[in-house]
Amino acid sequence: MSSQPIGIFDSGIGGTSIWKEIATLLPYENTIYLADNKNAPYGTKNKDDIVKLSIKNVERLLAYDCKIIVVACNTATTNAIKILRTTFDIPFIGIEPAIKPAALYSQTKRIGVLATKGTLSSELFAKTSDLYTNDIEILEVIGSGLVDLIEANKIDSKEMYSLLSSYIQPLIDKGIDYLVLGCTHYPYLTSILKQILPPQIYIIDSGLAVAKQTQHVLESHQLSQTTTLTGTHLLYSNHDPVILDTILKDSATNIPYQVSFLDF
Ligand code: DGL
Repeated sequence: MSSQPIGIFDSGIGGTSIWKEIATLLPYENTIYLADNKNAPYGTKNKDDIVKLSIKNVERLLAYDCKIIVVACNTATTNAIKILRTTFDIPFIGIEPAIKPAALYSQTKRIGVLATKGTLSSELFAKTSDLYTNDIEILEVIGSGLVDLIEANKIDSKEMYSLLSSYIQPLIDKGIDYLVLGCTHYPYLTSILKQILPPQIYIIDSGLAVAKQTQHVLESHQLSQTTTLTGTHLLYSNHDPVILDTILKDSATNIPYQVSFLDF
């Protein structure tokens, strides 16, 4: 049982920011990652479509006998995780924008949340942000077009810099001291964000917290890997595995992995 893989999916390459945290924290676990690039972005789709795509991804991961599923996508989590949990009899880990720690530590009592339209308009996001709006102002910004540029391998482009600046500058002007990255694609923008943001504004994402939660759920369900052999990591793209490979070559240097095309 314990050698079964951890299944992970996202609309594309963004969820690899979570996959890397999991593979680093749990080096003996095997993983299977699905990048649904063919259907990216999810963030502009309606809830029904996001649910359908999420179910399709989960069914494919279950065909690989995964023991737990990590929804490495804020958009899919906030729109579909409730339905996934009632549809499938397997533990799910989701990811939501890290509003809680940002609200807790903010001195200016203003935090920015950069996420997709699908996440920001979801009921789950509204519920979570309601919990923290007592003395905190949450400034939400939809990162329209950011995922498209990342998926097109244009992270370090002028286009990206100016689009990102147009979203972030108004938040800086309004005095935020925390910027929450509410989309798993956005950690790949951290170095550009650091050029735009003044040093007193902190960037926060949920990657490590999700990896720790995965470890906790594996342990509590007695599903942890029992061998101490380095895990195998298979990553599949249903559109262009080269883009997935390119981003990992630069950022996942210590993790052995294999990227392939898969029609799903
Ligand atoms: N990476 C995903 C997220 O965390 C989805 C982005 C998209 O496909 O729009 O929201």
